[in-house]
Amino acid sequence: MEVILAKTAGFCFGVQRAVDTVQTQIKEGTAPIYTYGPIVHNEAVVQELEAQGVQVLRSKEELLNLTEGTVIIRAHGVGKEIYDLLEKKGINLVDATCPFVRKIHRIVQKEGALGRNILIIGNARHPEVEGIRGWCRTPSYVVESVEEAQNFTMDPKGKLCVVSQTTFNYKKFKDMVEIISKKGYDIIVLNTICSATEERQTEARRIASRVDAMIVIGGSHSSNTQKLFEICKKECENTYHIQELEDLDLKSSQSIRCVGITAGASTPKKIIEEVQTHVGIKF
Ligand code: F3S
Repeated sequence: MEVILAKTAGFCFGVQRAVDTVQTQIKEGTAPIYTYGPIVHNEAVVQELEAQGVQVLRSKEELLNLTEGTVIIRAHGVGKEIYDLLEKKGINLVDATCPFVRKIHRIVQKEGALGRNILIIGNARHPEVEGIRGWCRTPSYVVESVEEAQNFTMDPKGKLCVVSQTTFNYKKFKDMVEIISKKGYDIIVLNTICSATEERQTEARRIASRVDAMIVIGGSHSSNTQKLFEICKKECENTYHIQELEDLDLKSSQSIRCVGITAGASTPKKIIEEVQTHVGIKF
């Protein structure tokens, strides 16, 4: 039985940085420590931090009720409104927004100031995309599918800047940009998919294409884990999405000689190692 573990599996640079930031604040920050939303889309990590006293703010209303402490902005980032609100309330803000996401905030701010509308290729309900829209000064739009790209319209004389959610599928992004580019707008396109995502997706595709079963580990709300699952499923019918080892129900079969493992950007190393060891021993 061969087990191939993707080198890119697990915490990306931005998530590691955000988790480290919380750890530093636990030791040195002004208590109580809050994160605005779960720091990563992984229940195990969030529970571990909760046990150390870190509270998760689930809504803007909860933020409005704060009178003291420190609020950590997670890697996904937030709109300008939240920065302004915390400043007005005099609450400490510690910004753990991933620098790649901050870069998109700066792009949409700058291009908006130049009069370009913003089109984000991504999921409109994802906090990262909501946060990016919160930095747009001009009308902003979000498209997620090829159909939505085909149906996209705006003022024909308007100028457009296209960016992407950092975790979007690169192939799909290219296809959608091709469709939008043919619509005749004055358009600039900036590929803001982060290289960690691209590398992880490329490696997952390569591994899934040569194994008998593929395991994708990550939180059920993790967008990049869902994308990884879609990519692997296309290459390998026998693809499983699990959050932790207990979820794994890999049928022992003679036809499974080689298993691939990858994991989303918010999956801790500990969980990946548990799965790797289990698969290696069991089969
Ligand atoms: Fe940042 Fe990319 Fe991770 S945008 S949070 S390094 S997936």
